[in-house]
Amino acid sequence: MDFELKTLSTATAANLAVDALLVLVPDEPGKDPADPLTDLIASAIRAGDLEEGPGKALACYRAAGIKAPRVVLVRSGNAEPAAIRKAVAGAMAHLKHPGVKKAALVLSLLPNPARVLRAAMSGCTEATYSYTTTKPSAKARTLEKLVIGVDAVADAKPEFDHARAQVVGVEFAKEWANRPANHATPAMLADAARKLGQKPRIRTEVLGPKQVEALGMGAFLAVAKGSAEPLRFIVMHYSGGDKATAPVVLVGKGITFDTGGISIKPAPEMDEMKFDMGGAASVLGTFAALAELQPAVNVVGVIPACENMPDGQAVKPGDVVRSMSGQTIEILNTDAEGRLILCDALTYAARFKPRSVVDVATLTGACVIALGGVRSGLFSARDDLASALQQAGESALDPCWRMPLDDEYADGLKSNFADMGNVAGRAAGAITAAKFLQKFATELPWAHLDIAGTAWKSGAAKGSTGRPVPLLLQYVVDVASSEKGDNPKPRVSNRSRRSS
Ligand code: BES
Ligand code: MN
Ligand code: ZN
Repeated sequence: MDFELKTLSTATAANLAVDALLVLVPDEPGKDPADPLTDLIASAIRAGDLEEGPGKALACYRAAGIKAPRVVLVRSGNAEPAAIRKAVAGAMAHLKHPGVKKAALVLSLLPNPARVLRAAMSGCTEATYSYTTTKPSAKARTLEKLVIGVDAVADAKPEFDHARAQVVGVEFAKEWANRPANHATPAMLADAARKLGQKPRIRTEVLGPKQVEALGMGAFLAVAKGSAEPLRFIVMHYSGGDKATAPVVLVGKGITFDTGGISIKPAPEMDEMKFDMGGAASVLGTFAALAELQPAVNVVGVIPACENMPDGQAVKPGDVVRSMSGQTIEILNTDAEGRLILCDALTYAARFKPRSVVDVATLTGACVIALGGVRSGLFSARDDLASALQQAGESALDPCWRMPLDDEYADGLKSNFADMGNVAGRAAGAITAAKFLQKFATELPWAHLDIAGTAWKSGAAKGSTGRPVPLLLQYVVDVASSEKGDNPKPRVSNRSRRSS
């Protein structure tokens, strides 16, 4: 989809040659200019046809004096970004007609269009997204072009660029996460990463089983060996910053299918374990966004990718393996495989002398129980890193919640046969998983995002969300502006509901 940022008053919007106008209307719209669009809004409100309240909408056809045949007036409510995203997404239902190829989203009536631009663009793109790769009969997105109307282009340009990059990144992540496991094997993910490597400032390296063995990644190899699909270890570099500046390293769990292995999962909903590479997809998506936005920062992406399958060759409960760090692990449950591939990736990440390492993983069902699909789980022993990620999530409308990492949570990982087991008890499963990872990040400024609840939706709306690409992109952009010496831009601060 194409986007264009344009200065649009109500008068110029009324003359715009588009198939549809979507106009966000604040509670107190100005009444001064005498133009058809202002008249339409005023008379709709007077007649009680456009109620107050975010998302309340009125769809009009061939309104007098307005060039676009379809006009949808949508109430912005308090004009907070979250309300705008929801209102725009809902209003898109009125524009499902295949004849709507070019639309304009008019934000000019709002008090601060730049502040809600990203929310509005993501609401529109989310509502029109369609996955077609393995379903050719699905209705593809018909909207080809979206004009964003603001009061002053110069003020809104940075947000517009960020929003456009975010959309590219989110849709890249959705596409790969939505693909079934036989259409998104480790080798295919590596090919997608290689293709991104042709974009400006991006370079991709891909390691196979032999090289991973030479590195001593015994934990990663143990998971991969039950599958006929060969593993891939993907390393991407985005070099937008000074050569000497330490990179942010993003590590993504790339289990392209998780059967559980010998500790096999029950049949219901097992298909959803194709999404178990959601962390990897979000790292790839973030790189796709970086290629668009080109911020001045260095980022490394590390993706261990393999399947977790039961097989005659598969790792067995009780097997002990040696990780790249030298620590040995008793694999008590082969379904706790994410931490096994991530621990070796974290050891590998240390070679980049990173300013921070953030791993992203659909790691535990326990995190779904704890936080549901609203917030991702955030784990870090570093307060500065945790708060940077937390803030990035708030301003990108992709929120996370910090969880504790007290050392006592690691007690259950003790083993009589190895340096640690790969599982503790059922209690606090998201935290004990994080404690396992922490044993491989002791020297690193490390954070972990458990996206098991947020990476995809189940049920009728089954599909990837593209999260946490918005959070990751925001975090990396904030790092770029802090390295430039700027204070990170004051951003939308949604009320924090955290008490401490
Ligand atoms: N990929 C799963 C986590 C998961 C489960 C995400 C359900 C989303 C929905 C992970 O590999 C896993 O199987 N974790 C186990 C760990 C357990 C064996 C300690 C889990 O959460 O049940
Ligand atoms: Mn598993
Ligand atoms: Zn898994």
